[in-house]
Amino acid sequence: MVRITSATLVAFAAGAIGAPQGTITRRQSPGGCDAAVKLDASTNVWDNYKLHANSYYRSEVEAAAAQMSGAAAEAALRVADIGTFLWADTIANIDRIEPALQDVPCDEIFGLVVYDLPGRDCAAKASNGELPVGAIDRYKSEYIDALATLLKKYPNQAFALVIEPDSLPNLVTNMDLQTCQDSAAGYREGVAYAFEKLNLPNVVMYVDAGHGGWLGWPDNLQPGAQELANVYKAAGSPSQVRGIAINVSGWNQWDMVPGEFANDPDGQWNKAENEKKYLELFSPLLEQNGMPGNAIVDTGRNGQSGGRLEWGDWCNVVDAGFGARPTSDVNSQWADAFVWVKPGGESDGTSDSSAVRYDSFCGRPDAFKPSPEAGTWNQAYFEMLIENANPAI
Ligand code: BGC
Repeated sequence: MVRITSATLVAFAAGAIGAPQGTITRRQSPGGCDAAVKLDASTNVWDNYKLHANSYYRSEVEAAAAQMSGAAAEAALRVADIGTFLWADTIANIDRIEPALQDVPCDEIFGLVVYDLPGRDCAAKASNGELPVGAIDRYKSEYIDALATLLKKYPNQAFALVIEPDSLPNLVTNMDLQTCQDSAAGYREGVAYAFEKLNLPNVVMYVDAGHGGWLGWPDNLQPGAQELANVYKAAGSPSQVRGIAINVSGWNQWDMVPGEFANDPDGQWNKAENEKKYLELFSPLLEQNGMPGNAIVDTGRNGQSGGRLEWGDWCNVVDAGFGARPTSDVNSQWADAFVWVKPGGESDGTSDSSAVRYDSFCGRPDAFKPSPEAGTWNQAYFEMLIENANPAI
């Protein structure tokens, strides 16, 4: 049943939150509550909503558990109950969303990653997408418009969106690459279009802002804040954009001091030694540039530190474990919540050096091998994440 705290009741009385509205019963029809959801993105919606454990990831995890036995299998099944985002990583995979909307309680929010820009993943190869550079019209009409139609079809369902991982950060630090130069205009136009079209009452949006080991460097902070804020303002400063998503599919620790890479030759120059510190440096700059600086933090796979040889290593890092569970109890001025964005067990990229999307980062000594194509299931990696989970699963 819906848990009603006194704070929630006060919020109802004040009209501060739009769902559940006027009733404390669960939904009576598929898709969330029995009345339209109105999210107030000037507040932390995670105080009132729990991240939904979606049935798509559940089926992946249950299939994985079926290959395990004993305590490990039991632990695996518990992962299926942990809230995790669903990635709409192709136009066709939008079809995965609707079946997963049928069992969402009214007090849960559905996490969805918007990830299909033309020329996607311009500074790496593992996640190059289906749309080539220049296919912005298809991105708009076949992808974003289709998502908007779906989200409008479920007005009684709350959605949290992570908008286009890696895209705008790549335009800050990787413009020496021809691929990123070619992708830049489409990224800016596409993200602005997503902001405008998905600016619906039942939606709250967070745009990807990389992580502390990326935009946290002194030379990147201000240009990063400007890049994101410019796109936000170009979209007309949409009301449902709440801020940024950080550490998406990442490995950084939340508040470890000294930071994991403090002893690196370069590490001392980056004051964003952990993600909490990154927000303290970056979010005020966003606000100075006219964009909200609130954040959600992916803690899906950061249960352990020490696996990476270098801060920038991103592919299937060895010795990783599931991290802190989704919660809004994060004790930070800037963070709304810890969430699991990357579905643990899905690969970051193939280790097969003959594959078209092989990226050399997935062949480094700190990358788990063998690993399948990005987004596909890696049973051995999933089992490792459980063994190394912190807190334990
Ligand atoms: C892949 C996507 C996948 C996502 C979540 C990305 O690295 O490119 O295809 O949906 O990870 O696993």
